[in-house]
Amino acid sequence: MLLKNAKWLNADGTFSKGSVHIENGIIAELTGRDLPDAGQEVLDASGMLVLPGTIDPHVHFREPGQLYKEGIDSASKAALAGGVTTVIDMPNNNPPCTTAKRIEQKKKLFRKKSHVNWGLMLHATEYGLPAVRPAIKSAKIYMAKSSAVPAITSEATIRRLMQHFPQVSFHAEDETEFDTDAKTGTPHHVKRPRASIAGALRKIEQALRSLPEKERPRTVICHMNTADEVRWLKRMKQEGFDVWGETCPHYLYFTQEDYLKQGSVFQVNPPIRTAADRDALRQAIADGTIDFMGTDHAPHQKSEKESGKPPSGIAAIEWLTPQMLHFVDSGLLSWKRFHRLICGQAATCYKIEKRNGIKAGNFADIVLVKQAAYPLKSEKVQSKAGIPLYENFDFGWRVEQTIVNGKIKFNGHTFFKEPKGKEV
Ligand code: DOR
Ligand code: ZN
Ligand code: ZN
Repeated sequence: MLLKNAKWLNADGTFSKGSVHIENGIIAELTGRDLPDAGQEVLDASGMLVLPGTIDPHVHFREPGQLYKEGIDSASKAALAGGVTTVIDMPNNNPPCTTAKRIEQKKKLFRKKSHVNWGLMLHATEYGLPAVRPAIKSAKIYMAKSSAVPAITSEATIRRLMQHFPQVSFHAEDETEFDTDAKTGTPHHVKRPRASIAGALRKIEQALRSLPEKERPRTVICHMNTADEVRWLKRMKQEGFDVWGETCPHYLYFTQEDYLKQGSVFQVNPPIRTAADRDALRQAIADGTIDFMGTDHAPHQKSEKESGKPPSGIAAIEWLTPQMLHFVDSGLLSWKRFHRLICGQAATCYKIEKRNGIKAGNFADIVLVKQAAYPLKSEKVQSKAGIPLYENFDFGWRVEQTIVNGKIKFNGHTFFKEPKGKEV
């Protein structure tokens, strides 16, 4: 494939102009010259920006077990529409992905169905590493219950798990700090107070410090939602710990006031918090304290969300790349930070090889975007999740083409079934 009249983003935040030549799924050549089209497929990128495919290292595609909420097919189409070319799927399935066998079963499903590249996490349990060691991106440690498996809240267990796994990702809300006898109608962020975050970080830090430096795993704090986490991460990084931070668009675009006004559509774990938290998170994506974005795409049915006991979760992978482009337009992000947040840092952290940007030798995971009004109407939404949170939001950018491993998988209208994504 040949992309001509291309203006592509480099990792240093500059743009180059010319042609991108793709061969066998790989970026074979980037050149300022016009290359002759020697019979291959040609895409004219005039009027568009050529960006690296976004990596979303935090999704819940709900398969196996909860196809009524979502599924690999629908969610990975939604990913394509959002300019996402690689995802890491979470293990809080039903049943939870706690063993090598369940990981292998899930891999079979992803191989068969996923339209984007993918990697998996293992659900850590107090028993530690399963006897058979599966190939995974990370172990996920839930400090608040999120599946049939009990939460892990003991510092000693966290320490033991850190000795088992070279890489751990935390849902860092310590459920022992939740207000379990709150009256009905108590706001979600009051039931799950910020003290639960601070408590979780304290345990994680103590566990890390108690281990000799060489035995400490790479540690990711998922879905950062408070200013406290930003301060913690900055301090730990300054001390040289191998700690990384992720946040999600909903913590950057909304506050708890939105939840108080509109209810369960904004109910998510961890909860959306104050304007001061939102601003600290925005500052932290701008200054590089937070490493990467994840959507935490967590779909639920409309009827569930509208019920008396709504489940937590926001499903919005379809908007991810435009949302981040909007932060460049607003002046919050430089192009260099944008690049690190959407693919560079996640690729490094999770060892996703040859997918850290548009470079010769890398896989051709590429997204073409255009500056245009584009409120996504619900009939176009691919995710099965009910109540699309950003329906009719206009971030000012539209995904025109999503190319995965050198093949067009989405052209702004149509999704192409083949080829499927690869394991990363
Ligand atoms: O809001 C959430 N929903 N937070 C989680 O950690 C899990 C997720 C889900 O699976 O629904
Ligand atoms: Zn979580
Ligand atoms: Zn999650």
